[in-house]
Amino acid sequence: MTMNRRYHITTFGCQMNKADSERMAGILEKMGFEWSEDPNDANVILYNTCTIRDNAEQKVYSYLGRQAKRKHEQPDLTLVVAGCVAQQEGEALLRRVPELDLVMGPQHANRLKELLESVFDGNQVLATEEVHILEDITQPRRDSQVTAWVNVIYGCNERCTYCVVPNVRGVEQSRTPAAIRAEMEKLGRNGYKEVTLLGQNIDAYGRDLPGTTPEGRHLHTLTDLLYYIHDVPGIERLRFATSHPRYFTERLIKACAELPKVCEHFHIPFQSGDNQILKAMSRGYTHEKYRRIIDSIRRYMPDASISGDAIVGFPGETEEQFENTLKLVDDIGFDLLNTAAYSPRPGTPAALWDNQLSEEVKSDRLQRLNHLVNVKAAERSQRYFGRIEEVLVEDQNTKDKTQVIGRTGGNRLTFFTGDIKELKGQIVKVKITEVRPFSLTGEPIGVREAVTI
Ligand code: SAH
Ligand code: SF4
Ligand code: F3S
Repeated sequence: MTMNRRYHITTFGCQMNKADSERMAGILEKMGFEWSEDPNDANVILYNTCTIRDNAEQKVYSYLGRQAKRKHEQPDLTLVVAGCVAQQEGEALLRRVPELDLVMGPQHANRLKELLESVFDGNQVLATEEVHILEDITQPRRDSQVTAWVNVIYGCNERCTYCVVPNVRGVEQSRTPAAIRAEMEKLGRNGYKEVTLLGQNIDAYGRDLPGTTPEGRHLHTLTDLLYYIHDVPGIERLRFATSHPRYFTERLIKACAELPKVCEHFHIPFQSGDNQILKAMSRGYTHEKYRRIIDSIRRYMPDASISGDAIVGFPGETEEQFENTLKLVDDIGFDLLNTAAYSPRPGTPAALWDNQLSEEVKSDRLQRLNHLVNVKAAERSQRYFGRIEEVLVEDQNTKDKTQVIGRTGGNRLTFFTGDIKELKGQIVKVKITEVRPFSLTGEPIGVREAVTI
């Protein structure tokens, strides 16, 4: 059979989706498909979708419309929608875009081969039932050869009143420490230097695994996992995301300060600086608790870099309550903050409340918050000026090929002159000569020796 076997994947959304896309790409390659940079040259097109906000979802429909049209001229085209829109819309998506061959939720990513085989047998396939996620046996096709994602917990059991994630990602399922370590050892053998452990609420890691300590604590927590995996040979840097202030512990902070490979970089969304709004969001903490966590991190690691997420214009948010968010941002001084205007999502409680704010108010608040975020990030960047930072080199700078790009331990993007062939995957000591709010430029002064434990 002279079948064109080329695929293209377009990924929207968070790191979780990026990790899923890499695994699905690995499955397609094992099936004999080749990556096609140009989607119009591929005959399997997969959209891995995000539904966190309405604009993320709308983007998918505009892409899909174009490919659905193409399918009328090229009937052998296989169209797949995976990820969170697939899970949220399910059957409705098939009705809206009947040209689709396969609609599959995020929990089915590891089943792509069997689902596609059913499509090639002539079926239109819908895979959105809640399942126990299969332990991953495929080699992912990773975008980077230096840094890698490793899932440690899938799903989320929280019920933040604005959020679709629990609806689309299902209940928490932790991978075993042994499976996580095995994946990391393989990464280390294959030359990877940095691993980011992933979970929507990574502090929940291990709650669903059996076993407790004599004090009644879960046997497997994120902190225990860090101790268990930090000596994986070859892996020089560890990060983790996303942290939840409700479950973030002092024990974890101590472990991060103690373990040399764990980067002093914390991504802890706070969502709002106002206690009433936090309560309406069902976040389960106060802004005082959030401040205590950051204080505690800075007590152990004064230079730690702090990032987070915030939502403005949550239903009922008053000007004064919004100003409490500004105040928190001003006080903490984030290195980076992802901000968003509240978007009502189907199937979430807050979407049904009648105290929704207008788009004008939301976008005005978003602009004011973003302005402050930039000012604070620029201030935070100043501390790097003249300093020597360790930069893990990831890529060539496509805009200036004499330069390479890497990141500091604190996750600042850093540019400096160098040859990517020589430096990829190396940790280079760089003297910082220029600072911008979210990136740095410097001069290399030497390559660091590997951490040996
Ligand atoms: N699990 C993480 C974040 C998951 S979603 C946490 O608990 O923080 C990523 C970010 O999207 C959230 O932190 C939040 O800031 C934003 N977000 C989620 N739902 C949203 C909505 N309905 N409208 C606007 N932003 C939203
Ligand atoms: Fe959504 Fe809340 Fe779960 Fe984060 S913790 S994924 S915001 S429900
Ligand atoms: Fe989006 Fe799904 Fe991630 S909704 S943010 S891709 S979990």
